[in-house]
Amino acid sequence: DTSKLWGGRFSEPTDQFVQRFTASVEFDQRMAREDILGSLAHAEMLCTVGVLSASELTQIHDGMAQISQEITDGSFQWSVELEDVHMNIEARLTQLIGITGKKLHTGRSRNDQVATDIRLHLRSAIDLIGAELTRLQQGTITLAAANCNTIMPGFTHLQTAQPVVFGHHLLAWNEMLERDYGRLMDCRERLNQCPLGAAALAGTTYPIERAQTAATLGFDRPTENSLDSVSDRDFAIEFCAFAALLMTHMSRISEELVLWASAQFNFIELPDRFCTGSSIMPQKKNPDVPELVRGKVGRVNGNLIALLTLMKSQPLAYNKDNQEDKEPLFDTIDTVLGSLRAFADMIPAMRPKTEQMREAARRGFSTATDLADYLVGKGLPFRDAHEVVGKAVGHGVATGTDLADMPLATLQGFSSDITADVFEVLTLEGSVAARNHLGGTAPQQVAAAAERAMALVEAR
Ligand code: ARG
Repeated sequence: DTSKLWGGRFSEPTDQFVQRFTASVEFDQRMAREDILGSLAHAEMLCTVGVLSASELTQIHDGMAQISQEITDGSFQWSVELEDVHMNIEARLTQLIGITGKKLHTGRSRNDQVATDIRLHLRSAIDLIGAELTRLQQGTITLAAANCNTIMPGFTHLQTAQPVVFGHHLLAWNEMLERDYGRLMDCRERLNQCPLGAAALAGTTYPIERAQTAATLGFDRPTENSLDSVSDRDFAIEFCAFAALLMTHMSRISEELVLWASAQFNFIELPDRFCTGSSIMPQKKNPDVPELVRGKVGRVNGNLIALLTLMKSQPLAYNKDNQEDKEPLFDTIDTVLGSLRAFADMIPAMRPKTEQMREAARRGFSTATDLADYLVGKGLPFRDAHEVVGKAVGHGVATGTDLADMPLATLQGFSSDITADVFEVLTLEGSVAARNHLGGTAPQQVAAAAERAMALVEAR
C-alpha cells in the first residue's frame, strides 16, 4: 500500500482491523499543538544549518498556521489510515504545500518526535496543575489563618485525643500539599530536556543543532543519549507517582470532609453548590465532590501501575508498547486537574461550625493529658500521674461527668496534689495555648505557621 508514508517496502495493504488496532490518532491528536510546535522548531533548525532554504521554511510556517486553524475550528480531517497525530499533520502539510512538506521529516523520526510531544504536553499540564495546587493551598492557608482560635477535637484512632485548633488541622493538609508541589516541580525539572535529534534511535547524519531546537521549545538542554531519549517514559511514570500521592492526600482530606459534614460530626457546612440531593430521600444533602475525589484515586493509582508495567522489560530503544503510555497519562492529567479545581473552589467556601467543634472537643476527656502534665508539675512521675488521671476519667465515664465539671473535692480524692489552679489547665484554651512551640497547636504558633506557609506559596 504505497499510500502510506512508510509504504515503499510493502506489497499488500495493511489489514483493516490491524490498521485500527495499531492507530493512536483518536487519542494522540490531543498533542497536535505540541506536534506543530516541535515541527516548527525542527524546521527552523534545519534552515539554520542549511538543510532547508528560507523560502521552504516560510512555506512550512504558512502550512502549519493553516493546519493549526483547521484543528482549532474543527475542520481538520483526522484519518485512521494515517495512524497517528504525527503522520496526519505531516500528510496534510504535504497536501497544502507540496514537495516541501515531504522535507520536514529530514533528520527526524516519529520516535524523537513523539518523545518531544509528550514532554511538551506534560510540561504544560504540570504548569496548569501547579497553578491549581497553588490556588488550593492559598485557600487552605487563608482559612487556617482565620481559624487559629477555633477549637476542635484532635483525633488518634478516630477517638478524641487532645484539643487542637482548626487552623492547625488545615495547615497539616497544607504540609501534605506543599510536599506534593515539590514533587511536581522535581518531575518538571527532570523531564525538561529535549529528545529532538535522537531521530529513530542512533542520531542522524545531518549537521543538526540540538541546542537550538531545545532552546526554541523552552527545554533546559538537549537529552544526553539518543537511545535513552526515544525509549524511556520514566518522566510520565514520575508524574503519575506524584499524582497518586497527591490524590492519596486529597482522598484523606475527602474522608475527613465527608465525616465532618455528617450529622454525627456536624463540624462543617459544605456549600449547597458542591453537594447533591437524593431522588428518594428529601432530606439528603450529599458530599458528592469529596466522595468522588476519594473514588478517583482508584483510576490514578491504576494508571501508575499501568505505566510501570508498560515500561518494565522493554529492551532499548523505542518499542510500539510506548504508544500505550498516552491514555493513562492523559487520564491522570485530567483527573488531577478536575479534582484540584473542585477542591480549590470548595475548601475556601466551607464553613466551620465553631460551636459544634468546641462542644465536641469538650467531650471525651480531651484534656486528660493536660491534667497528667499538671500533676507532673506538682512532682509526680508521669506514669503515676497517668494512673491517677485514668482513675479520674473512669469515674467521669461512670458518672457522665467531664473532668472540668468535677468538684475540686472529687478531683482531690484522686490526688491530694490537685489544687484549685487545676481548672485553668482543664480548659480547652489552656490546653491548646500550652503547646506553644514550633509545630504545636497554640494559636500564636498556628498564626505564625500560616504566615510562613503563605510566604512559601507566594514566593513561587
Ligand atoms: N504513535 C506512536 C507512539 O505513540 C508514534 C511513534 C511511532 N514510531 C514508530 N516507530 N512506529 O508511540
